[in-house]
Amino acid sequence: MCGIVGYIGSGNVYDVLIKGLHRLEYRGYDSAGIALVDDKGKLSVFKAKGKVANLESYCEDKNTDSAVVGIAHTRWATHGEPSDHNAHPHYSEDGNLALVHNGTIENYQILKDALIQQGCTFQSETDTEVLVQLIEYIKVHNNCSLLDAVREALKEVVGAYAIAVVEKDKPDTIIAARKSSPLVIGIGDGEFLLASDATPIVEYTKDVVYLKDEEIAILQRGKPLQLVTLENEKAKIDVKTLQLSISQLEKGGYPHFMLKEIFEQPKTLLDCIRGRVVDGGKQVMLNGVLDNKEQFLKARRFVIVACGTSWHAALIGKYLLQDMCHIPVAVEYASEFRYSKPVIYDTDIVIAISQSGETADTLAAIKIAKGMGAFVYGVSNVVGSSIPRETDSGTYIHVGPEIGVASTKAFTGQVMVLTMLALSIAQLRGTMTPHQIEEIGKEILTIPDKVEGILKSLNEKVKQMSLIYTYARNFLYLGRGYSYPVALEGALKLKEISYVHAEGYPAAEMKHGPIALIDEEMPSVIIAPKDHLYDKIVNNVQQVKARGGSIIAVVTEGDDLISEIADHVLEVPKVSECLSPIITSIPLQLISYYIAINKGKNVDMPRNLAKSVTVE
Ligand code: M6R
Repeated sequence: MCGIVGYIGSGNVYDVLIKGLHRLEYRGYDSAGIALVDDKGKLSVFKAKGKVANLESYCEDKNTDSAVVGIAHTRWATHGEPSDHNAHPHYSEDGNLALVHNGTIENYQILKDALIQQGCTFQSETDTEVLVQLIEYIKVHNNCSLLDAVREALKEVVGAYAIAVVEKDKPDTIIAARKSSPLVIGIGDGEFLLASDATPIVEYTKDVVYLKDEEIAILQRGKPLQLVTLENEKAKIDVKTLQLSISQLEKGGYPHFMLKEIFEQPKTLLDCIRGRVVDGGKQVMLNGVLDNKEQFLKARRFVIVACGTSWHAALIGKYLLQDMCHIPVAVEYASEFRYSKPVIYDTDIVIAISQSGETADTLAAIKIAKGMGAFVYGVSNVVGSSIPRETDSGTYIHVGPEIGVASTKAFTGQVMVLTMLALSIAQLRGTMTPHQIEEIGKEILTIPDKVEGILKSLNEKVKQMSLIYTYARNFLYLGRGYSYPVALEGALKLKEISYVHAEGYPAAEMKHGPIALIDEEMPSVIIAPKDHLYDKIVNNVQQVKARGGSIIAVVTEGDDLISEIADHVLEVPKVSECLSPIITSIPLQLISYYIAINKGKNVDMPRNLAKSVTVE
């Protein structure tokens, strides 16, 4: 988490950095800070607890216009509480250097103790301050350049970092480096930008370089970009062109990014399937499968690793792959996988799912799986992020930037990619007939319109209904089969943005414990489309009703059985079972959004969360 941004050029440094921080605020927002250096060698550091807007207010009466270079940071606290003094940038004891950091320095205590022994004093509880003090210490004691001091200091560091450092007396230079945390350099016309992702860069230039692990970038006014390794060897500069537009980063008339992203789904699903479901649905094929036929033919098992919402998509992927390809599938939390003793064979395909492409646990799981000989396939959204670069092959979901912390369009994009993945593999392995594939392929093409229809028919209804449920303190979300992961996802959505306790359960498990919770004050959201488990879930609906619980049911259009029992019914169009999660998750997204709004919560930036979880 945390977002870092840097700028050197002839524009207004402060303005560029603040705008960049706003774009990166989704990564963390408990404090923000900025370091500016003017051409007289004056280094000023301004910090404020809370959101970037607080920093702006704080800087209103400060001289920020004379800066010629600067770095800035928006924080998601790991070491030390959110406060002014723990906010970045941190500076060295003699005030010569300022540094911003995204990641965690795991051996910071050892380094800190050693520096204290040398007489260093610290102003904050952060791991980051240790790094800037260490760089300064090496620079002074070795009488070397900032670049050399950074190289030497980073060799001492265990952990993850994306850093940017400025030096008081060198207002023409930023030194930046990365390991396991993302960093993108933008090469503009006489200017350089750096940032945790491309969003602060895109309006200045489309030419970017994604830094690799243990590479250091030297951004110097009037000179071309230079990259070196920790060993001071020249590294190759691979300039990529951004496929991102500024309009994708704005709210486009919606009050929140989350609502915009929910309503974007007809389009994002279309973008996701474009070129992959072709010939009127007759052909469904992902290039990642086509290019790796042998791997997919010899595969004997899939292991899917992911976190949070992506893990829920992975569970749906398990049903899809088992149903369509008849191959066993294991789904693991990446954080558990990495510290278990996983048994992985070279006939396994490990699928890593991550919207951001930067989740630390998922990245670690990928490295372990690769080390054990598995072929690793990535499903990600952010082009150029770490996971697509670490995996052997993969598929982008192509849903555009997701800014709201609560994942919505990325979830449906992930499920759509997993559906196409299962169909592609089924075609390759002959586990489905061309006719069966065509049937689903054709139906996939209708999904964007169906999602559009749900948004039209249910938005207002859910908005009104949510008023009744705004003050419920607990919710149960129940589903079976493909609807079970949808229930988990619905519950996660509600808790993360409204701070209401919600539990997702396979509906049949309810009677083994959670049923004890049900009373008039505990509403249940039951996902009950007409599928092969419909009759079974009707029983579960009855069981909730018999205990006085109120029921919101997501059902297939025309369902009159559950409609009779439930207190509120949200109808969705009929689709094949394998496509139902995309359809049934839409009303659940709206429920969580409106309940959170009624409660006055900040849905785009819920407390304690960050969009991109780059720490363990
Ligand atoms: O970027 P990733 O998909 O790897 O992120 C995984 C989770 O952190 C993420 O899905 C999280 O659970 C979301 N806030 C859910 O809305």
